[in-house]
Amino acid sequence: MASLPILPSSAPFRPEEIAALNGVITKTSPEQRAWLSGFLAGFLAGTGGAQTATAAAPQAPAKKVPLLILFATESGNAETLAAQTRKAAQKLGFAAKVSDVADISLADMAKAENVLIIVSTWGEGDPPQRAMDFYSGLLAEDAPRFDKTRFSLLALGDRAYVNFCMTGHIIDERLVALGAKRFAPLVECDVDFATPANAWIKSTLDTLQKETADEHAVIHVDFARAAPAEAETDDEAEPLYTRNTPFAATISELINLNGSGSSSETWHTEISVEGSGLVHAPGDALGIVPENDPALVEDILKVAGLTDDALVREALSDAQDITTLTRPQVEAYAKLTDSAQLKALTADPNALTAWLQGRQVIDLLEAAPTKLDATTLTSLLRPLPGRLYSIASSAKAAEDEVHLLVSAVRYQTHGRSRAGVASVDIAERRKKGGSLKVYLKPNPHFRLPADPDRAVIMIGPGTGVAPFRAFMQEREAIGATGKNWLFFGNRHFTNDFLYQLEWQDWKKSGLLTRIETAFSRDQREKVYVQNRIWEQRRELYRWIQNGAAIYVCGDANAMAKDVNHALIRVIADQAGIDETAAAAKLDTIRRDGRYLRDVY
Ligand SMILES: Cc1cc2nc3c(=O)[nH]c(=O)nc-3n(C[C@H](O)[C@H](O)[C@H](O)COP(=O)(O)OP(=O)(O)OC[C@H]3O[C@@H](n4cnc5c(N)ncnc54)[C@H](O)[C@@H]3O)c2cc1C
Ligand SMILES: Cc1cc2nc3c(=O)[nH]c(=O)nc-3n(C[C@H](O)[C@H](O)[C@H](O)COP(=O)(O)O)c2cc1C
Repeated sequence: MASLPILPSSAPFRPEEIAALNGVITKTSPEQRAWLSGFLAGFLAGTGGAQTATAAAPQAPAKKVPLLILFATESGNAETLAAQTRKAAQKLGFAAKVSDVADISLADMAKAENVLIIVSTWGEGDPPQRAMDFYSGLLAEDAPRFDKTRFSLLALGDRAYVNFCMTGHIIDERLVALGAKRFAPLVECDVDFATPANAWIKSTLDTLQKETADEHAVIHVDFARAAPAEAETDDEAEPLYTRNTPFAATISELINLNGSGSSSETWHTEISVEGSGLVHAPGDALGIVPENDPALVEDILKVAGLTDDALVREALSDAQDITTLTRPQVEAYAKLTDSAQLKALTADPNALTAWLQGRQVIDLLEAAPTKLDATTLTSLLRPLPGRLYSIASSAKAAEDEVHLLVSAVRYQTHGRSRAGVASVDIAERRKKGGSLKVYLKPNPHFRLPADPDRAVIMIGPGTGVAPFRAFMQEREAIGATGKNWLFFGNRHFTNDFLYQLEWQDWKKSGLLTRIETAFSRDQREKVYVQNRIWEQRRELYRWIQNGAAIYVCGDANAMAKDVNHALIRVIADQAGIDETAAAAKLDTIRRDGRYLRDVY
C-alpha cells in the first residue's frame, strides 16, 4: 500500500495543528482524500487564494467528474466491459465507479449525472436474471425521474436471436421517457463485441469529457504526477486467455457417459491445462474455440465456387461462423444475388422469421447459388464465437485438469442433418491426446456459499449437473460440513444417469445427504425434477428455512422456468401464502444470494 501524505513539520501550521491534521489524514479513505483535495483546490481557486498557497505538497488533484458505470450481465461480458470502461475513464480523470444494476437503487442511480450502461439480453429478449428488479422497477409507473442524468447505453446480444439487444433498447428508451438525456446513441453489439464496444467506450468518454469540461471548476490535473487513489489501482487483472488468445490444452480423456441404448451422447471430457496458469473455481465455465465441420466447409466452398482457395478454407474452418444465419446476412445476400425469392422474403419480416427457423448459411447460399470471391464470402460471415461449458471438476480434486460434460447437439431440419459446431467437434473429431483451444470464463455469481457449513440444494438435470460435480469435489476436499441435496433428471436410469457411480459413492460416504432423480421416460407419465421438488416440498422448505442455498443449472427455456415455478408453489404451499407472496419470498432469497442460477 502506498504511504499516506503526511504534512511535514515545515508546513505553515502550529505543531499541534500539524499533529491534528495528520491524525485526520491517516484515517481517511482514498475517496475522502480525493474529495478533500478537490474541495481545497476549488476553494482556493474560487477565493483567489491559489497564488498565496505555498504548500510543499504536490499540486492538488482537481475535483474529478463523477461517472457511474452500470452493467447488467448474465455470463460476465457486460461486467468485463464495465471494468474496461472504468479503467479508460480513470485514465481520463473521471471519478469512475462501477456497479451491477442489481446493487444500486433506482433512486441512487437517478442522482447520478453521468451514466454509462452496458446491458446484455437473454432468454427470449429478457434481461439478465440479476437485473430483473432493476428492469421491472424502471418500467414501473412509479419509477423515479432521471432529469439530471445524461447517459449512453451499450447493448450486448446475438443477432441469431429474434429479439436482438432487446433489453438494451427497452432500457435506453425508458430512460429517455423518464427524462434522461441520451448524450450518445445506443450501440448494438453482436457476439464479436470487442471492436464496437471499444469504439463506444472511447467515443462516449470523449463526448462526456467535452460535455463536462466546464461543469466543475476544472483545475489542471497532472495525472502523471498525482498519486493514484487506492481505488484506482485495484484494476482487475487482464484475463490470461480469451477467445482470441486461447490456451492450447490437451484432451486427456474423452468418454461418452450414456449407455449404448441411449438417444443422447454426453461426453465427459478431461482437459489438461498444465502449465497454463489457469485458476478456476467451482461455478466457472471453460470457453472452447471449436473447429467447423470440414464436410460443411467443403459444401460452402463448393456452392461459392471457392474449392481451390486454401486460405478461405482455413478461415471457414476455425475463424468464421458458417452455421448461424441472421437477418442482415439474408438481406446482404439478397442484394448481392438480386434473387427475387430472397428479396421477397426480406420485404416481409414475418416470412423471413419463419424462413430462418432451422436454416443455416448453407441454406442461404443454396437458395440462390452464385460464385463468390473470397472477400465477399468471408465478409458475409460472422466471426466464430467460442462455446462455454460449466466446469465439472474442482481444482482441489483434479489439479491441472478441467473436466467438462458436453452433450452432442444433432438434429434434422429442412432435409439436412445438422450438428452442433462445438459439441460435435468434441464428440466426433477430437481424440484423447489431441489438442483443444480453451479459455476461462469465471462466474463469480455462481459460487458455493462462503460458509462451508451452509446446506446446498443443487438442481441440475442433464448437463446441468456438471458444476455440481465440481461443488461436491470441492466440498469433499475442504471438509465442508454443510448438507448437500441433488435433484438430477434425464431420460432413462439405465443409460442416462450421468456420473451415477460418483453420486452413489458420495451418498454412501455421507457427503451427499440426499439425492432425488427424475427419469422422464422410464414410466408412462413423464417425470421431471420439478415433480420431485413438489413431492419433497416439506423437507425442501425446511432446508430453505434453515438457510440452504438453492442452485439451478441447465436448460434455460423450459427447465429453469418450470423449476422456478415449482419452488414458488412449494413456498406458497408450505408457508400458507399465495403464489404472488411466495414469488416475492423467493425473490428475497435470490437477493440474499441464496437462489443462484446458471442456465443456458
Ligand atoms: C454458461 C454456459 C454454460 C454451459 N455449460 C454447458 C455444459 O456444461 N454442457 C453442455 O453440453 N452445454 C453447455 N452450454 C451450452 C454450450 O455452450 C453450447 O451452446 C452447446 O454445446 C451447443 O453448442 P454447439 O456449438 O454444439 O451447437 P451450435 O452449433 O451452437 O448449435 C446450437 C444451435 O442449434 C440450433 N438447434 C439445436 N437443436 C435444434 C433443433 N432440434 N431444431 C432446430 N434448431 C436446433 C439452435 O439454434 C441452437 O442454438 C453452456 C452454455 C453456457 C452459456
Ligand atoms: C441462452 C441464451 C439466450 C440469449 N438470448 C438472447 C436474446 O434474446 N437476444 C440477444 O440479442 N442476445 C441473446 N443472447 C446473447 C447474449 O446477450 C450475449 O451472449 C451477450 O454477450 C451476453 O452478455 P453477458 O455475458 O454480459 O450476459 C443469448 C445468449 C444465451 C446463451
